[in-house]
Amino acid sequence: MNEPENNPLVAIVLAAGKGTRMKSNRAKVLHTLCGVPMVNYVIGAIRPLSPESLNVVVGHQADEVRSVLPEEAESVLQREQLGTGHAVKVALEAVKQTEGTLLVVNGDGPLISAATLAGLVERHRNADVGATVLVAGMDDPAGLGRVTEDAGVVRIVEERDASDEERGNKLVNLGLYAFGLAEIRDALGRLESNNSQGELYLTDALEIIGKKSRAVTYHLEDLTEANLVNDRAQLARAEETLRRRILDAHMQEGVTVRDPVSTHIEATVEIGRDTVILPGTFLRGATKIGSDCVIGPSSDLMDTTVEDGALVEHSVGRGAHVGRKASVGPYAYLRPGTVLGRKSKVGAYCEVKNTHIGEGSKVPHLSYVGDTQMGAGVNLGAGTITANYDGVNKNRTEIGDGVFTGINTNLIAPVKVGEGAYLGAGSTINKDIPAGKLAVGAPARVIRDAPGRKKPSDKKG
Ligand code: UD1
Ligand code: CA
Repeated sequence: MNEPENNPLVAIVLAAGKGTRMKSNRAKVLHTLCGVPMVNYVIGAIRPLSPESLNVVVGHQADEVRSVLPEEAESVLQREQLGTGHAVKVALEAVKQTEGTLLVVNGDGPLISAATLAGLVERHRNADVGATVLVAGMDDPAGLGRVTEDAGVVRIVEERDASDEERGNKLVNLGLYAFGLAEIRDALGRLESNNSQGELYLTDALEIIGKKSRAVTYHLEDLTEANLVNDRAQLARAEETLRRRILDAHMQEGVTVRDPVSTHIEATVEIGRDTVILPGTFLRGATKIGSDCVIGPSSDLMDTTVEDGALVEHSVGRGAHVGRKASVGPYAYLRPGTVLGRKSKVGAYCEVKNTHIGEGSKVPHLSYVGDTQMGAGVNLGAGTITANYDGVNKNRTEIGDGVFTGINTNLIAPVKVGEGAYLGAGSTINKDIPAGKLAVGAPARVIRDAPGRKKPSDKKG
């Protein structure tokens, strides 16, 4: 057996293909599952193996694929997609090692686990062979390469090149391989494109290597990992498996999920213990939820932080920050730049944008608050609105500590309301209000004819 010390591991991910069967303008590996591009799952499974280098073969939409790759991954451009064998050939030009083990992973198997990849590499090294391929017996092998193994020679025939008898074989190639670096370099030089697609098939390398230095199969234990993504139906199935895995992981860590069927939590989300997630909830992007929160039912938070003990009910958050024990909803919309202080409240049918709401302040009903700095202990009456946009500029509103506004108050920005001021119901405030003063009124006056309207007397008949 080769010791890992003198047998370094290098990894290649194949991600240059278009993914024709996705019927998409986006490269297949860019399609997301639970918020994360497919290729990143594959890289995530390789990461714990700590390869000396990780090269990702890009081609179709190369720049877009590069832009989602983590720092540890180097991209290698395959200008023309001339087949999986050609892709590995191109990638190996960027690999300086001549001895060691090469792990090759198709970019379209997002469910593969690190444990399986580690098992494949270990099997390969223990067997001391030139090549090892991950295989599985599948009830429905449609579309996949069929594998036969005989006395150290592994043969893979693509379905489109297979005879009827070969198609009856249910042992399939899952597109994951370990190779001796020297052996694969040699074999790639001998590949021929005499197949139905006129491509260089990586799979043909198995037979070439097997004849010289033996090749073996490694059988996948957990068949859910074999869910490869070639079309949208398979994408949905793989995403469902990942979604359940994510939910299970949160539940293991002490989060209550009342209805896993209707709860969608992306791979990037963090949740503290004793938080309860109620049905119909979506938590996405860089969302972070503290402990002892109640989120949902029917809430949708993206890139939003919720601190311990807060409540978010029937609401939408985008780039918002909800403080400790704050309460949101039902039916609130928190837009980017919203910061809710401790024990504050944004209640029913309120929209808040680019606004800081101080500790214990309340915006309980039917308000729009934008571009506002609000102190602590403020209470806005139902229907209080900040007119932050004059059609040209966005202007700021400042509301001091302890301000109270009556219902239907309009705050015409830019405007400042001093600490402890009291604004009467229906008032329209377009000048600064000093601290501690009561301000009322906005009588409507008839000025002239409404522009561009007919008077009743103009009507015929
Ligand atoms: C391949 C295998 C097949 C296996 C299946 C498992 C070959 C010839 N066949 O078939 O035996 O059952 O995977 O999923 O390898 N790619 C490139 N450059 C290319 C061509 C492909 O980077 O020139 C990438 C694709 O982006 C994809 C991966 O290689 O991530 C596999 O390519 P794909 O065309 O999906 O191969 P299959 O036909 O599925
Ligand atoms: Ca494929």
